[in-house]
Amino acid sequence: MKKILCLIIIFCSISCFSSGQTTATQPGVTQAPDILLPLSTENTELIYKVSGRDGKLVQVYLGPRLSSVSALNQLRDAGHPAYATFGTDNLFEPAIRMTHNDGNPSLELKYVSHVTETADNNITITKIMLRDPAYPVEVTLTIKTYKAEDVVEQWVEIVQKEAKPLTIYNYASSMLHFDADKYWLSQFHGDWAEEMKMQESELTSGIKILDTKLGTRAHMYQTPVFFLSLNEKSDETSGELIAGTLGWSGNFRFLFEIDEKNSLRVISGINPFASEYTIQPGKVFKTPSFIFTYSNQGKGLASRNLHHWATKYGILDGNGPRMMLLNNWETTYFNFDEPKLTGLLDDTKKMGLDVFLLDDGWFANKYPRENDRAGLGDWQENKTKLPNGLGYLVKEADKRGVKFGIWIEPEMVNPKSELYETHPDWVLKLPNRPEHYYRNQLVLDLTNPKVQEFVYNTVNDMLTNNPGIAFIKWDCNRMMTNAYSVFLKDKQSHLYVDYVNSLYGVLDRLRQKYPKLPVMLCSGGGGRVDYGSLKYFTDFWASDNTDPLERVYIQWGYSYFFPSISVCNHITSWGKQTLKFKTDVAMMGKMGYDIPVNELTEKELKFSQDVIANYKRLSDVIWHGDLYRIASPYEGNRAVLMYVNSAKNKAVLFAYTLNSRYGEAFNRVRLQGLDPVKTYKVQEINQSNEGRAPGGTANPRSYTGDYLMKIGIAVGSASPLTSAVYEITE
Ligand code: GLA
Repeated sequence: MKKILCLIIIFCSISCFSSGQTTATQPGVTQAPDILLPLSTENTELIYKVSGRDGKLVQVYLGPRLSSVSALNQLRDAGHPAYATFGTDNLFEPAIRMTHNDGNPSLELKYVSHVTETADNNITITKIMLRDPAYPVEVTLTIKTYKAEDVVEQWVEIVQKEAKPLTIYNYASSMLHFDADKYWLSQFHGDWAEEMKMQESELTSGIKILDTKLGTRAHMYQTPVFFLSLNEKSDETSGELIAGTLGWSGNFRFLFEIDEKNSLRVISGINPFASEYTIQPGKVFKTPSFIFTYSNQGKGLASRNLHHWATKYGILDGNGPRMMLLNNWETTYFNFDEPKLTGLLDDTKKMGLDVFLLDDGWFANKYPRENDRAGLGDWQENKTKLPNGLGYLVKEADKRGVKFGIWIEPEMVNPKSELYETHPDWVLKLPNRPEHYYRNQLVLDLTNPKVQEFVYNTVNDMLTNNPGIAFIKWDCNRMMTNAYSVFLKDKQSHLYVDYVNSLYGVLDRLRQKYPKLPVMLCSGGGGRVDYGSLKYFTDFWASDNTDPLERVYIQWGYSYFFPSISVCNHITSWGKQTLKFKTDVAMMGKMGYDIPVNELTEKELKFSQDVIANYKRLSDVIWHGDLYRIASPYEGNRAVLMYVNSAKNKAVLFAYTLNSRYGEAFNRVRLQGLDPVKTYKVQEINQSNEGRAPGGTANPRSYTGDYLMKIGIAVGSASPLTSAVYEITE
């Protein structure tokens, strides 16, 4: 626990504001002064005001840091509701809606007090308590600012002190307002094997919603991230925008509403769809966090802010080491046995990789896991495939000086399994309706404490029985349909929320016992990527689509919101491109392998071994350096990006030529993020005879940072599906 260095408490008695008046001050009544609440980071500011007139909390500013906050006293407009309620005077979408225990469907919120805690010299937490003057319901808005990273996190706690249960229908984490001429929204949608497709559109009057209703594997069609550009479309280096994301692994909703005055409200939080929630007296309902950063220098800065925040605060062990994997999924699928696996352990060693990851298919006996139709839920080693158990493989890995990792999918079950036979009431399924399968499986009812115990024990037993297991891939291959929980009885609308909180509960317990064990988050590819889960996971599987051409776009999409250290990219047999192209694409994130190593030619093996050594030398720059996206694959036939370390003495540049039209000219690119007065050596690496960029040069050249950033250099070649990687050293 970090020591709280400073605690400032400002109390304002509720009686100041509880007269019930909502319009002008009456003659003879002294109006309380307005209170300004500035919440600042290094470069940005979100400012609320408590109106002395009616005690309501409004947002008066969000943008670059002001030199004087008091200047806001000159503002003549009333501001926008900080957390709009429903039922009284709000005319647009509310952030919160509830029905009190006596059936009154309205809520009014007035400022009571606020408290500011400075946790360290970077983090400040402000809690603003609001209360309904007529009912004992308190709503606390929490705003956590990360000064150096220019990131703001917001969440809400609803404290219910009524005598009987009350029901909340909307319960957003954040409500933000903007006043601009135009608004441009970039969203990231997709499907299995086509994650993170960026689409930008202008918002028009009325409501636009980005959401998901899938429950589990919740982000399969829509990742909970967006850019909102103000006035004009922003690009990498210019434009005013916020980048927002919700830390929640279930149903989310971002709602954008433009009113009759062209003001925009953005409401972010759990999707209220089919999720009204009853809060018992004395209980607190806490929403997940909305995380955002404001930039007036384009999307590039917004991404870097989020990356800095994520490695320090958002991802488990975000600044810690990472291991390079050899995975067997695409090499063997379900078809393996002990000798084949020990061969793969040899290959892990031969390649110079750190860990072998055994994927799906290693478990279940009564209904062996020979394919995806059976066995899920029966987490005992399959005796035919692994007669000596996992422990034997751990030892064999150890003998070779590599580590052993394992795939699990503990939230799911095949109906053809002993688990299903023993506990048919542990699955989510509707009464009086046929079961509905997706990938031949059902979702376990994690709201049931017995199921939570089962999931915890599955992982814990595996780790205790085989202490050498050094890596886990945690999968989740289906969404919820026909969902009904026997355990929840008459509280079915709690399912989507309780499921996610129960999952977090299990992960919390596991993390207490195994604080740093690397675990990859997977959900049929990138079906559950968000900062709610990444608190528990070290990295994520971005997509089952490993065709490197597709991956350029998928990884480009993730790069806007997630740092490269968290994005697992494997070199596989998908795609007909050269091994060099595949390798260079995987190298822009957390690189790993899933290829039959024994089928590599001698040259290919040598090339891979050299690249792995390059990667190990440069991974610190790639994982923790500042990302500059220079040429977007969305705008042309190539993609160029680079990472620069904080000392600006090392950088790595990746250039991918995706296509090229007859006569197409690929101009010089101007690098970014370097020190203009430093002189840099630019050396092409990862060269291979088979796929070498013809324009590439084996000999290093020297340039000043000024030259590289103002004049630029030619990178890569004009041949389709070629790539080049440059190491740039002061
Ligand atoms: C999902 C994952 C794959 C693989 C399979 C195993 O589809 O995304 O990487 O682990 O499950 O069944």
